[in-house]
Amino acid sequence: MLREQVDLQPYNTLALHARAAYFCEPNDHDELIAALAMAREKKLPVLPLGEGSNVVLTRDYPGLVLRLLDARIQLEGSKRESQNDNTVTVRVGAGLRWHTWVEKSLEAGWYGMENLALIPGAVGAAPVQNIGAYGVEIAKFIVSVRGVYIDSGKVFELDNAACQFAYRNSIFKHALAHKTIITSVVFRLSTTPVVHAEYAALREYLAEHHAAELHANTMTPLQVKDAVCEVRRTRLPDPNVLPNAGSFFKNPQISVEHFERLRASYPGIAFYPGENGQIKIAAAWLIDRLGWKGRCIGPACVHDRQALVLVNSNGACGKDILALADAIASDVYKHFDIALENEPWVW
Ligand code: EPU
Repeated sequence: MLREQVDLQPYNTLALHARAAYFCEPNDHDELIAALAMAREKKLPVLPLGEGSNVVLTRDYPGLVLRLLDARIQLEGSKRESQNDNTVTVRVGAGLRWHTWVEKSLEAGWYGMENLALIPGAVGAAPVQNIGAYGVEIAKFIVSVRGVYIDSGKVFELDNAACQFAYRNSIFKHALAHKTIITSVVFRLSTTPVVHAEYAALREYLAEHHAAELHANTMTPLQVKDAVCEVRRTRLPDPNVLPNAGSFFKNPQISVEHFERLRASYPGIAFYPGENGQIKIAAAWLIDRLGWKGRCIGPACVHDRQALVLVNSNGACGKDILALADAIASDVYKHFDIALENEPWVW
């Protein structure tokens, strides 16, 4: 059903107020197509929202917001497409909550998603920014992405290569940005347990709580999933308690020369291997090092346990969040000669 002048505050995890001129939660594919046709007729821009966990709303939206999250709007449902000895291929509707899908896959004996447990958002949003955590990125499991073009309502299906996945990036953030609505994603998962426990924070937790299994290499995917949930719960704020949008900045990638210069002054700098021979720096480390953890500008604060997460501590508006982000980015640029890039989409 189409509604007008709807406050989006309950629909974004930073809990920012902004009104959508039109708002619709389609129940199925036909309702989605009808809503897109209406938007075309009225010449309205269209904004798809899953859980709203990666947007910063700084003003009202003059077009149609399509909310595609809920068990009842899974759009294309979940169904097994094929199975062989070691893998299963499953199509999952875009509206399913990400964590629900992670749990369902594990219950079914399909492995690979455990490190991505508890990430907020919908299945349809996962490919857009190639979600990743604890050493695993979703691109590795995606076979294809299906959706419709906003301007024509025509269906498309892109295979993994066509999605141009990179670190927190895909074609849906550049060439196809704001041009599509994703309706389902096909995943290929393993039917034999695989465990990825190399990421430092995860390994530390496992070494403390499951030392014997870790040593004997007998960790189960379920144990890894539970550990990931625990680590996330201790470090990342629950958006229902403290509104936030996860990491606010991408981890920047810099040249080896730049990195060596920084390391000479800051031997403790946290880093990982990056793409195309570059070095990926932990933005949280840079921000923390400059003393921002726990600091606020007005009602927008840096989380006191993870410097990469900005929180709306007391009725902030989108501009408050951006003012804090800009102050942090200028400081990081001044001290480290690194330009931080926002991870969430800013409207
Ligand atoms: N660190 C600090 N201070 C802090 C937090 C971290 O110095 O307050 C340093 C530590 O040395 C730590 C390093 O930074 O070893 C990395 O921190 P962490 O393991 O928490 O990961 P991250 O790089 O800050 C990334 C993702 C997260 C993901 C975690 C875990 C990005 C932008 N962020 O964060 O993803 O959950 O790794 O894998 O890539 C998200 O994208 O929204 C997100 C939460």
